[in-house]
Amino acid sequence: MYRSHNNGELNATYINKEVTLAGWVQKSRDKGFMIWVDLRDRYGITQLIFDEQRTDKAVFEKAKSLGREFVIQVKGTVIERESKNATMATGDIEILVSELNILNAAITPPFTIEDETDGGEDIRMKYRYLDIRRNPVKNSLLFRHKVAMGVRKYLSDLDFCEVETPYLIKSTPEGARDFVVPSRMNQGQFYALPQSPQTFKQLLMVGGMDKYFQIVKCFRDEDLRADRQPEFTQIDCEMAFVEQEDILNVFEGLTRHLLKELKGIEVAQFPRITYDYAMKTYGNDKPDIRFDMKFGELNSVAQHKDFSVFNSAELVVGIAAANCASFTRKEIDALIDWVKRPQVGASGMVYVKCEEDGTFKSSVDKFYDQEDLKKWSEATNAKSGDMIFVLSGPADKTRTQLSALRMELATRLGLRNPEVFAPLWVVDFPLLEWDEESGRYHAMHHPFTSPKPEDMKLIESEPGKVRANAYDMVLNGNEIGGGSIRIHDKDLQSRMFSLLGFSPEQAEDQFGFLMNAFQFGAPPHGGLAFGLDRLVAILGGQETIRDFIAFPKNNSGRDVMIDAPSAIDATQLKELYIKLDL
Ligand code: AMO
Repeated sequence: MYRSHNNGELNATYINKEVTLAGWVQKSRDKGFMIWVDLRDRYGITQLIFDEQRTDKAVFEKAKSLGREFVIQVKGTVIERESKNATMATGDIEILVSELNILNAAITPPFTIEDETDGGEDIRMKYRYLDIRRNPVKNSLLFRHKVAMGVRKYLSDLDFCEVETPYLIKSTPEGARDFVVPSRMNQGQFYALPQSPQTFKQLLMVGGMDKYFQIVKCFRDEDLRADRQPEFTQIDCEMAFVEQEDILNVFEGLTRHLLKELKGIEVAQFPRITYDYAMKTYGNDKPDIRFDMKFGELNSVAQHKDFSVFNSAELVVGIAAANCASFTRKEIDALIDWVKRPQVGASGMVYVKCEEDGTFKSSVDKFYDQEDLKKWSEATNAKSGDMIFVLSGPADKTRTQLSALRMELATRLGLRNPEVFAPLWVVDFPLLEWDEESGRYHAMHHPFTSPKPEDMKLIESEPGKVRANAYDMVLNGNEIGGGSIRIHDKDLQSRMFSLLGFSPEQAEDQFGFLMNAFQFGAPPHGGLAFGLDRLVAILGGQETIRDFIAFPKNNSGRDVMIDAPSAIDATQLKELYIKLDL
């Protein structure tokens, strides 16, 4: 028996008991006549004591040789500590060691294995197995496990069945590039790794599975960011005989359940806003509604005066930053510089101070009087003591810029509290979006999404105006899930492919299997997928998903620990009929 207890469980009730413990040496303090060792495992830290007076001489000498991260096993007696540590679960006791076995020595780790480490990101990733010994990473993985278990239980209790779908498949269009795998047995042919199990889950509905879910890896070759990994995990779900309302209710229920079980937070019904409203009000389809700062459109009150910048703009739009009228000239200039950075791209910014006495002071006083500015304050919902910031220009671009400013102000003003959770649904997404580069429409969600029946009449004449039965769940400014009601009719699916620029042959070649299946009695169906990594990170109070993934890739898509991707040898290439021309 390696151990009788773990390092997180012993307390005063065990005093005088003989125990066997095992773990890693977190640190040791050698006072000459007394040595204390912190013994660590996943469950916690227990203090060991070796006392020249009471410990066998050979054991005492061996204890002197212990270094950081040595793996040891000890036998000893639980005794009461002289100086107790109330912050530790095991802080009332220590183990007077009688036997010490060094199970494995360790070389000095490249960074300190403590909550606050001196290791930078790169070195931590190279030695990720050491990083995982640290509480912040370990706890993130344990938290992820809890979320996954919570999801499995909740959905199983509702009769959802977890079904595994294949990884070696054919391209599923989710808007990214595919990772491909060459086939040795089929010369010159490739599998694609799934960007999502989209088509398979729809086929499971045709197969009568009724309620499906899967916690599943997805693969997308796209540019990486804090909330994006090339391989990530979805909670992928599909239901038959449902309308949008049914899906929203089930997955709102799941999210509410997780918030309650894991964070102890009760959230009322999630607000639902349309995509159009989100874009007009927040400049963004994943608004952070933990704070207000709604956009106020100012065209009617700011144009037709002598300020030509606004007169020539498609959109003049502002937000009120609460209690910011006291910003100094320097702070305002810093914000103006911030919006003018190439990443945001505004050409300038107008501001209005709403003074406590009800008057206004603006950077455009030359063109606008107090009556005008009062109207601006009404449109942006500004109160005395607030500051209004105004941008102008082409509508979409200006909204995006103001949205970036809104988030930046919220961060600077401390309004993005990670312990506050503000979920919502964004519904009625457009079915299609115009892509300048290819000069044609793309599916905004994916090509299997059904148009709203009432908008079908516009599908040929004004395709850009057709709305979809598609929805996203947004939590604290992050898209954590998205889905849609699907097309289940072969003819409509063919029309959709043709609208997206597929020839009948291309559609047949890529998706014939699905359209064929629709002819054998496909039920109405729909679903959604959550990004598990994102959901876990946000519930865990962070926006970077990397620490919630055991072995993540870096921003160039590399696993620096195992050094992948890497070249393969000539024999392997030959077997796969691949000739490299680098
Ligand atoms: P979608 O493409 O919106 O929908 O993906 C669903 C959710 O997956 C997460 N996500 C990611 N997380 C980490 N890294 C990535 N690279 C990444 N890409 C996406 C997001 C997103 O909301 N088949 C559809 C779902 C459906 O229609 O049922 C789909 O995959 O949180």
